[in-house]
Amino acid sequence: MDTDRIIDQLHIYEKKVLKAFEDSDRPLKPEEIAESQEMDIKSVMSAVGALESRGFVRVIKDVQEYVSLTDDGRVYAEEGLPERRLIEVLAGEGELDVSELAERAGLDRKESGIGIGWLMRKGWAKIDDGRVSPVQEGTPGRGADEELLQILLRGPVRPDELDDRLRAAYRDLAGRKGIIDIRKVKSHTIELTPEGRRLLERGVEIVEEATQLTHEHLKTGKWRELHYRGYNVDAEYPMVYPGKIHPLRRIINEIRSIFLALGFTESRGPVVESAFWNFDCLFQPQDHAAREMQDTFYVKNPPFAQLPTDDLVGRVQSVHEDGGSTGSEGWQYEWDVDVARQSVLRTHTTCVSARFLTENRPPLKMFSVGRVFRRETITYKHLPEFHQVEGIVAGEDVNFRNLLGILREFYRKLGFRVRFRPAYFPYTYLSTECEIYLPDKKSWIELGGAGMFRPEVLEPLGVETPVAAFGLGIERLAMIRLDIRDIRQLYQSDLGWLRKLPVTGDLQL
Ligand code: DAH
Repeated sequence: MDTDRIIDQLHIYEKKVLKAFEDSDRPLKPEEIAESQEMDIKSVMSAVGALESRGFVRVIKDVQEYVSLTDDGRVYAEEGLPERRLIEVLAGEGELDVSELAERAGLDRKESGIGIGWLMRKGWAKIDDGRVSPVQEGTPGRGADEELLQILLRGPVRPDELDDRLRAAYRDLAGRKGIIDIRKVKSHTIELTPEGRRLLERGVEIVEEATQLTHEHLKTGKWRELHYRGYNVDAEYPMVYPGKIHPLRRIINEIRSIFLALGFTESRGPVVESAFWNFDCLFQPQDHAAREMQDTFYVKNPPFAQLPTDDLVGRVQSVHEDGGSTGSEGWQYEWDVDVARQSVLRTHTTCVSARFLTENRPPLKMFSVGRVFRRETITYKHLPEFHQVEGIVAGEDVNFRNLLGILREFYRKLGFRVRFRPAYFPYTYLSTECEIYLPDKKSWIELGGAGMFRPEVLEPLGVETPVAAFGLGIERLAMIRLDIRDIRQLYQSDLGWLRKLPVTGDLQL
C-alpha cells in the first residue's frame, strides 16, 4: 500500500503518537508521549496498539522490582535492628543474663530472641550458660544491612541499582521476615520502527477529521471540504467462530448430494439388524470368519430379530445348502435358522441394499449412508464404528464396467483418483476394491468394495436383472480431505481444530 494512503488511514491519535518521535531518536515512555502530544495515557496506549499491529512502533515491556520498607522495617531503620539495640546495651554493661539484656534493650521475647541470634551470626557477641557478652570492646561499626535500611528510609530502590555489597545486604534483609517489601512494576517503552520512521519522514499532518456526517453538512455542501479518514481493510479483527456443521457430516452431505444428482434414491435401514439380513441373504456361510465374535458385535437385548417371510427364508436356506435353483452347489452344510435370527450391530450397509431389493423392482438406483460397527482395534486408520455409503444399480444392461464407471465418477466428483484391484466378497462376482494413493504415506489405502451381486444373492430376493453394488468407507475419505493423520480426530470434539476448519468450498444440504 502506498505511504500516503496509509497516512490517510491513521487515526488522529496514531498520528499524534508518531509525531511524538519527530524530534526524538530514543524510545519514549507513554507518559512522555502523553505530555508532549497533550493526550491521556489511555489514548496513547490504544493508538500505540494500533500502530504496533501495523509494524510502525514496537512496545518494549519491562518489569522492574522495587524494594521498600514495611512498617516494621521503618521502625528498625529508625530505632536500630534488634541486634544493634542489644549490642549497645552490652557495650555499656559488659555481660548480661539473656532476659535482663532483653529488658534493658526494651525488646520483647521474640525480638530479643531474633536479636541474639543475629548477634551470634554477625560475631558481635557470644553466649555462655545463659549469659551474653560482647566479643570486642565498644560497639561494632554499621553493617551494609543497616546502611541499606537508611537508604530505604529515603524511598524505594531498585535492587539492580545497588552495588554488590548492598545487594548482598538486600538479600539478607529479604531473608528476614517482615522488614522489606518487594514490588514488581511493569513499564512500557515505545520505540519507532524503521517503517514508522519512514512514515513520519513522509510528513504526518494533523487535520481535524470528520467523524460524523450531519444533515447540515449535506445540505450546505460542507461535506465536500471535510477530511475523512480512509478505511483500513487490513485492520486486525476479532476472530469469530460461528456454529457450523461437523466436517464429517459435511462430507456425508456432499456424498449424498452427489448420488442424488446422479439420480439415485436414498434409503436407510436399521442399525440393529438380524444376522439374516447382515450375512445370510448375502450368501455368507454361517461359519464365515466375519461372523465370529471378534468381528461382529452381537446384541444381548433383543437377542433375536424378526425374520422376513418363510418363503424368503426358505429360499436363502436352500441357496446356502445346495445352491437352490441357481445352478450353484451352495456351501453344502446344514443351515440353521436360529443363527440367522441373532441380532447384531450391522457390520456393513450392504444389508440395506438387500432389503431394498426385496421391496423395489429394477430398474433402480439406490444409495444409503449409515453407521456400521466392527470389533476393530482402534488405530490411526481403524475405528470400531464408522460410516459407509452403500449403493446399488439394477437393470437389464447393467454390468461390471458400468460399476467401475460409477465409482470413478463418484470419486472424481469428490476430487479423488482411485484405482481398482481384484477382490473377493461372498456376495459378488466379479468383485473389486477401490484404493486411493496417499503421497504422504507413499502407500495405497483401501476405501471400499464393490461387485456384481451373485445369483445366489439375487435369486432368493426375486431379482432377475444384474445388480452392481458398492460399499465405501467415509471416514478415510474425510481424513484425506481434511488432511488429518489420525482417523480418531474426527470423533474427538477437538474444539480448537473444529473452529479453525474453513467451511467454504463444499456443498451443504
Ligand atoms: N460390504 C463390504 C464391506 O463392508 C463392501 C462391499 C463390497 C459392499 C462389495 C458391496 C459390494 O455392496 O458389492 O467391506
